[in-house]
Amino acid sequence: MGRVFLLAAWLLACAVLHHGACAAATGPVSAIAGSQKIACKLLSLTHPDHTFFEGSDNYKYETQTQYWSSTAYNTPACVFVPQNAQQLSFAVTTLTLTSTKFAVRSGGHMPVQGYNSIGSSGVLLSNSNLSTLALSHDHATVSVGPAYRWRDVYSYLQPYNLTAVGGRVGHVGVAGLLLGGGISFHSSQYGFAADNVVAYEAVLSSGLIVVAKADNAYSDLYWALKGGGNSFAIVTRFDLRTVPFYDSLTNSPTVFENFTSLKTVADQYAFGALATYISAVDALQPNGLRQDFRVASFMVNREGLSTVHDTFFGDANSQLADIAGLTASITFQPVTKGFIENGRSRGGSNPQGVDANNAPYFWIVQNLSWQNAGDDDTVRAFAKATIAKIEGTITSHGVAGGYLYMNDAGDGQPVFQSYPSANLRRLKDIRTKYDPFRIYTNLLVGGWKVLDA
Ligand SMILES: Cc1cc2nc3c(=O)[nH]c(=O)nc-3n(C[C@H](O)[C@H](O)[C@H](O)COP(=O)(O)OP(=O)(O)OC[C@H]3O[C@@H](n4cnc5c(N)ncnc54)[C@H](O)[C@@H]3O)c2cc1C
Ligand SMILES: *[C@@H]1O[C@H](CO)[C@@H](O)[C@H](O)[C@H]1NC(C)=O
Ligand SMILES: *[C@@H]1O[C@H](CO)[C@@H](O)[C@H](O)[C@H]1NC(C)=O
Ligand SMILES: *[C@@H]1O[C@H](CO)[C@@H](O)[C@H](O)[C@H]1NC(C)=O
Ligand SMILES: *[C@@H]1O[C@H](CO)[C@@H](O)[C@H](O)[C@H]1NC(C)=O
Repeated sequence: MGRVFLLAAWLLACAVLHHGACAAATGPVSAIAGSQKIACKLLSLTHPDHTFFEGSDNYKYETQTQYWSSTAYNTPACVFVPQNAQQLSFAVTTLTLTSTKFAVRSGGHMPVQGYNSIGSSGVLLSNSNLSTLALSHDHATVSVGPAYRWRDVYSYLQPYNLTAVGGRVGHVGVAGLLLGGGISFHSSQYGFAADNVVAYEAVLSSGLIVVAKADNAYSDLYWALKGGGNSFAIVTRFDLRTVPFYDSLTNSPTVFENFTSLKTVADQYAFGALATYISAVDALQPNGLRQDFRVASFMVNREGLSTVHDTFFGDANSQLADIAGLTASITFQPVTKGFIENGRSRGGSNPQGVDANNAPYFWIVQNLSWQNAGDDDTVRAFAKATIAKIEGTITSHGVAGGYLYMNDAGDGQPVFQSYPSANLRRLKDIRTKYDPFRIYTNLLVGGWKVLDA
């Protein structure tokens, strides 16, 4: 016990004296084996009501219930649930000074194993209680903490006839979606969800809490957070522009006539509010199955589309027939020129730097879900081989899209390598500036890291 208190005193002295100074002696950090026990002890001594260990209901809720894919369930040494940015900052400093690995989880929807969870060698930082939710006085922006899912944001804004540019499935987390870009039903009008963020409150690796905006001293960080993932800071609040709820009160506008005239197999077409729609379809993406995503992109082209479709379903039918509880689907996400251009005019440039000249694109996602851990290797090998085949096909048709969307990507896909090289260099410089000791690269495990590209 005495040792722990000594360490706590040193830790506080370090934090007070100079942010980051304590790590300076060693350069880039690496984890010390066994240190997670000390970190958990420090967190539970200082925040007993918000630190949880295996065996408690809160631990199970934070390590299982909050995740979409059961491949993410894990057994951290402890879970810390900060109540505000100051407590999160304290946790980052504690983990840094003890050289302990950790994972950060918000909505828990990223299905890449190890990208939002950690085992017994580390600590899970849960954002479940970072729950700011407030509309600005003039209703132009809404402040949202990473505790929230998009359904919460839409329901909150609905009484004001407002909404936000966010996810198309209600239980997806606000934080992860925004840090990778974010494809919305409104994207053709307003771009990436992240193009509509006006400010980020974030905890730097030094423990400092800052607000990054387009026109303040942290404008470089603001730019990086619009698609740079978790290498830069842990975001504790997003200020989002609100958008009007209805663009038109016309039901069945003629612009959709060629779509609404198709013969339907199932029909949910209706005029209604986004929050209502989201709550109706949320259940179609249940929690608790094993999941894998993988992406590719191509310029819209009929032959390319048919080949991608036929390749995926041909291979799925012939190779995955024996997989229990299998759902194999491929989503063609249309990305218009308006998406790219309107996003840029709303939010300025972003790290993704998607080329508008070759739009429209399809950003496709292979979605595979299955039941048993015993089938993990087979399904993942299929997913990898099939996306490689699809990439080969679109390249041979001369319609490769280049960009790989982070939030739908699978393990090992070269996401940052698909960003313009000047943007990647700028991301790396910004990362070095804000996190010289690589706390959010070496200790914060999981996620696409700019340093790996
Ligand atoms: C059913 C389903 C539907 C989807 N629909 C859409 C859609 O319509 N549009 C779209 O664009 N994407 C969609 N996605 C993809 C989604 O955007 C990503 O899975 C996203 O990462 C989810 O965010 P999260 O907060 O739930 O994720 P988490 O798994 O909690 O986090 C994802 C990553 O972000 C990091 N992170 C989390 N919180 C923070 C924080 N506060 N600060 C710094 N880093 C953090 C984590 O460490 C992790 O690496 C969908 C995914 C699923 C499963
Ligand atoms: C989250 O916040 C609520 C409301 O303040 C509180 O009752 C609860 O104990 C907190 N949960 C955790 C896990 O910290
Ligand atoms: C929202 O829109 C509806 C339908 O046009 C209208 O009846 C209602 O008064 C509006 N509410 C607010 C708060 O503006
Ligand atoms: C519907 O399709 C026809 C035939 O391709 C086309 O001429 C027409 O412009 C389309 N209508 C709309 C609203 O896009
Ligand atoms: C597949 O993934 C996309 C992208 O995240 C998502 O929008 C879609 O709902 C998923 N489809 C299925 C059937 O899971």
